[in-house]
Amino acid sequence: MPGFRPHIRTNEHGSLTIGGVDAVELAKEFGTPLYVIDEDRIRQRYREFVKAFKSLYQNVEIKYAYKANTNLAVLNILRQEGAGADILSEGELFIAQKVGIEPRDIIFTGNNKTDTELEKAVDAGVIINLDSIHELERLKKVCEEKRKCADISFRVNPAISPETHPHLSTGLRESKFGIPEEDVINAYSLATDPEYFRIQGIHMHIGSQITVSRPYEIAVTKLFDIAGRLKNDLGIDLNFVDIGGGLGIRYQAENEFITPDDLAEAVVPLINKKIEEHGLRPPTIFLEPGRYIVGDSSIMLTRVYTIKRTPYKKFIGTDAGFHILLRPILYGAHHDVIVANKMNQAPEEKVDIAGNVCESGDILAKDRMLPKIEKDDILAFMDTGAYGFIMASQYNSRPRPPEVLVKDGQYDLIRERETFDDLLRKQRVPERLKPAL
Ligand code: LLP
Repeated sequence: MPGFRPHIRTNEHGSLTIGGVDAVELAKEFGTPLYVIDEDRIRQRYREFVKAFKSLYQNVEIKYAYKANTNLAVLNILRQEGAGADILSEGELFIAQKVGIEPRDIIFTGNNKTDTELEKAVDAGVIINLDSIHELERLKKVCEEKRKCADISFRVNPAISPETHPHLSTGLRESKFGIPEEDVINAYSLATDPEYFRIQGIHMHIGSQITVSRPYEIAVTKLFDIAGRLKNDLGIDLNFVDIGGGLGIRYQAENEFITPDDLAEAVVPLINKKIEEHGLRPPTIFLEPGRYIVGDSSIMLTRVYTIKRTPYKKFIGTDAGFHILLRPILYGAHHDVIVANKMNQAPEEKVDIAGNVCESGDILAKDRMLPKIEKDDILAFMDTGAYGFIMASQYNSRPRPPEVLVKDGQYDLIRERETFDDLLRKQRVPERLKPAL
């Protein structure tokens, strides 16, 4: 087992353990597919991330990106650790409020906020991170009607490539996100209306699964140069600069990666230099990590049913598919696969792991060297904590799987498996279409 996942081990039965719990036993008790989340791993990654930045810069606040994983147990762990929330929808606002995150610790980003979202964000008193001048005008109407003043920031599009998957790049010049650099000063000057807006900060988020620090360095430099112009041309002193999320994780041993320390060491000196150069009051630095915090805390367990050899391939058929784990089909993403009940067996054969969705693209893993696979083996997909369960669906009329939280050899069910009734929930059949009795 690659040593870069210290929370994944092997026990005396040759089974995979996570958080000290036997994954094969969990699969038996709760059935498959099943997501398993390691509490301590989340805490460890969060603390590592915070420490990296706080040891170099005094005022740092983490707004965990809710979109990565909104399981309530996970969110409560992160609330206990002191995380705020980066949210993007009314639903996430509702969840963050339920979890008890203070409004001042919530930042609401999103490129197409609805009128209701703007209204609810103003009522809640969260920071509203605006994505366009049109959105500023729309927010102004809301504030006028409500006679309320909103805390705001603008998301800047720094026009750089984060050197990641095109679908995970959000700060390219042609991207739909953020305000183009050339319009930013104008946006802020339009927002200098103390009756309706309290300008709090500036924001960027350049992409996800970023494994080099250079794009951050370029974007952070641009952001602070804008902060300098805001101060020196418009007299606006920003309280925070939000440098977004996006730090990648190591999905494979051979992956290039940078640690939070590497990232902090790359950007904090630049930040300090720019603060001095532009005579800024040192702002609070916000960060919005999602994947780094929760990504490798979780595994997805699935059971092998059919084994099929064709002249071209050997397919291992499982009870999961892209409705359970979407990332492979959506981004060609790689998740390591481990045979949870055969930890001590050497790889022997090359297989494709086929999902059970009726689509030919539903291959969860390609050309993997695994021990000899038999029916009822339990496969563990690694690093499914970020954008795993949260992107699952009921496609092919399969209820969504349960989630279990493990810690110190103990476990709790934190989400029940959906039932067949859940497949029908909220649907109505008009009387005229019902079968005659
Ligand atoms: N802040 C903003 C404004 C974001 O849009 C995102 C992610 C984050 C923070 C957190 O980024 P992270 O630290 O998790 O990279 N479904 C894709 C990832 C989409 C990311 C969307 N935005 C995947 O499965 O890889």
